[in-house]
Amino acid sequence: AAEKGLKDYYRNYFTVGVAVNMAAIQGAEADLIKKEFNSITAENDMKMGPIHPQENVYDWSRADAIVDFAVKNKIRIRGHNLLWHTQAPAWMFKDSEGNQVSKAVLLARLKDHITTVVNRYKGKIYAWDVVNEAIDDNKDTYFRNTLWYKICGEDFIAKAFEYAHAADPSAALYYNDYNSEDEVKREKIYKLCKSLKDAGVPIHGIGLQGHWKLNDPSPEMLRKALDRYASLGLKLQVTELDITVRTRFKPGAPALPADSGLTPALAQQQADRYAEIFKILREYKGVITNVTFWNVSDKHSWLDLRRGGLAGGAAAGEVTSRKIVKAYPLLFDEQLGRKKAYWSVVNF
Ligand code: G3I
Repeated sequence: AAEKGLKDYYRNYFTVGVAVNMAAIQGAEADLIKKEFNSITAENDMKMGPIHPQENVYDWSRADAIVDFAVKNKIRIRGHNLLWHTQAPAWMFKDSEGNQVSKAVLLARLKDHITTVVNRYKGKIYAWDVVNEAIDDNKDTYFRNTLWYKICGEDFIAKAFEYAHAADPSAALYYNDYNSEDEVKREKIYKLCKSLKDAGVPIHGIGLQGHWKLNDPSPEMLRKALDRYASLGLKLQVTELDITVRTRFKPGAPALPADSGLTPALAQQQADRYAEIFKILREYKGVITNVTFWNVSDKHSWLDLRRGGLAGGAAAGEVTSRKIVKAYPLLFDEQLGRKKAYWSVVNF
């Protein structure tokens, strides 16, 4: 029989996914994806700006390529995302004179965007991250500093779910966020999703992004968050899993090491951490329906080359004057080989 992949080991638990860019669905990485995964997410190519750069212009090319790859290979597709302040196109908030638009105009544009995008992939994309990261870490409610909130107030969140449900009633609609295990933020996410559900808004799940560290969240914090969200009767998915392990380089340092540069001790620590996390996730069989890794291998991670440690996707190859960071967060190394962490996840 063909060698088993992650998806085979986890067939009785949840689908196992990966976030891709265009490079990942061609060549050697595509073969790895077909063998190991049965779910896929576009890392960037379905976000508002990339797919809808001007009011009457959609760029479907990359999103279609990813969807076609997945459909052809019988891989399920998570849509990411229908509303986020990052990479929202500037035109959406301005009228033809460049003035800020009214709430009615912005909601009409949001409805048009969501209806058009969800309709196009109806029957192909089974789950959408409808709203991404609408809760601030350090303020007491939805981030008031974004135009979505300033122009629409809190309505835009419920509206986004309603627009998506109207476009594809069969799609599972998720609220997606990070640091979702932090006690304070967990209660804000819980409160938001409970209020949406109690108001009859069509929300079906919560996405815990899972950008986790070697020691955070603790097993207790993770279980507490999973139990809290599950108590709402919503499905749960881990949508962007990686375990941050990284090496810092001084400016002007020689090129990043050819091999992974991951010391044996760190590799073992990461393997143990992945084993611990997956042991917990398997306990939520039937509640957790998908676990998706953010990027395929250590060859490319959003955690690479971060500007001086600030989060955010430094454009590939962009080297800043400050520290260069190489990350080794995933189960496959830069040569697409299975790391110690891979075996720790499948040996159960
Ligand atoms: O495509 C443009 C390119 O044309 C331009 O030349 C270049 C230089 O500015 O930018 C390119 O866009 C970049 C894009 O990644 C594609 O590489 C954006 O600047 C950059 O900000 C964007 O970063 C992405 C980030 O989300 C913001 O959208 C990361 O790749 C992506 O991994 C990251 O993923 C997010 C999830 O969507 C939500 N959860 C957090 C996660 C990590 O931040």
